[in-house]
Amino acid sequence: MEQSSDIRIDGRAIAKKIEERVKADAERLIKRGVIPRLVSVAVDDEDPSFESYMKSRAKACARVGIESEVEIVPLKDAERALGLKAARLSEDRSVHGVLFSLPLPSGVNDQSVYTRLDHRKDVEGMHPWNAGLLALGRPRFVPCTALAVMEILKRETIDVEGRHVVILGRSKVVGAPLASMLLHKSTGGNGTVTVCHSRTRDLPHFCAQADILVAAIGQPEFVKGEWLRQGAVVLDVGTHAIDDPAYKRGWRLVGDVHYESACTVASRITPVPGGVGPVTTALLLQATVRAAMGADE
Ligand SMILES: NC(=O)c1ccc[n+]([C@@H]2O[C@H](COP(=O)([O-])OP(=O)(O)OC[C@H]3O[C@@H](n4cnc5c(N)ncnc54)[C@H](OP(=O)(O)O)[C@@H]3O)[C@@H](O)[C@H]2O)c1
Repeated sequence: MEQSSDIRIDGRAIAKKIEERVKADAERLIKRGVIPRLVSVAVDDEDPSFESYMKSRAKACARVGIESEVEIVPLKDAERALGLKAARLSEDRSVHGVLFSLPLPSGVNDQSVYTRLDHRKDVEGMHPWNAGLLALGRPRFVPCTALAVMEILKRETIDVEGRHVVILGRSKVVGAPLASMLLHKSTGGNGTVTVCHSRTRDLPHFCAQADILVAAIGQPEFVKGEWLRQGAVVLDVGTHAIDDPAYKRGWRLVGDVHYESACTVASRITPVPGGVGPVTTALLLQATVRAAMGADE
């Protein structure tokens, strides 16, 4: 569709530019004898998509010169095991970045895990220290997906100031930190922000008011084009594999927004795949190299 390629925001191209800079920074560190290292900790819940997700993250790390590894803890007594891992990895001077694969299993208190992690290694910005800095308008490590939305707006020169940004979803990894950044009284912020969630009444009513709409609700193709204002900017955070026999592999990826109908009204839109996802990964690499630079100072 010609119109959709004109308005499509190319997340892969943005990610490539970020990665080039991260690679140059990593090379400087490596010359000084510091090899940036990222450890992902996951709970063994046999999610079939987990392996391919970890492989693609490992590949991304390798592209820029970051060493990466995955550590698995058993599902039984996961909170204790994750806390012990956090404490051990905090002590390990060869590790610069640590992240826990989210969502953690139900019943695990994530804050009891993150508080045991050295906040200087918290590349996903989930430690209370980093969440506090963000709330104070002095962000250091910030959840990468929320930051990816900010980065896309900046790089595509989409002005937020004074505009109505409607965020669907209030999670700690996307909606809440994003709302905080968009409200900051600084460049890239100063938006008028509305946050919707599962208890919001009449979601289409709020979507219709958005100059910029961010969808992060975890519901495949939920937001329809007819809900949107003509000319809205649409940033789709959702990622879902849905069955589709037309594809050789039997499935395809979609977002929280119904892409085809949204393309008929949006002025700019991120596709799924190839939108917010690659930028999120690139920013995780950036955070890891920054953590390694901080440790080298
Ligand atoms: N592209 C990336 O790199 C990336 C990274 C992370 C996540 N994701 C994707 O982004 C999506 C959101 O992730 P998340 O971790 O933020 O999810 P989450 O923790 O499940 O939060 C979902 C949020 O959406 C709200 N919500 C759910 N159904 C709704 C509905 N029908 N109407 C209005 N609000 C609704 C929930 O409301 P309540 O608070 O009331 O429950 C919650 O605030 C998922 O599809 C996930 O796969 C993508």
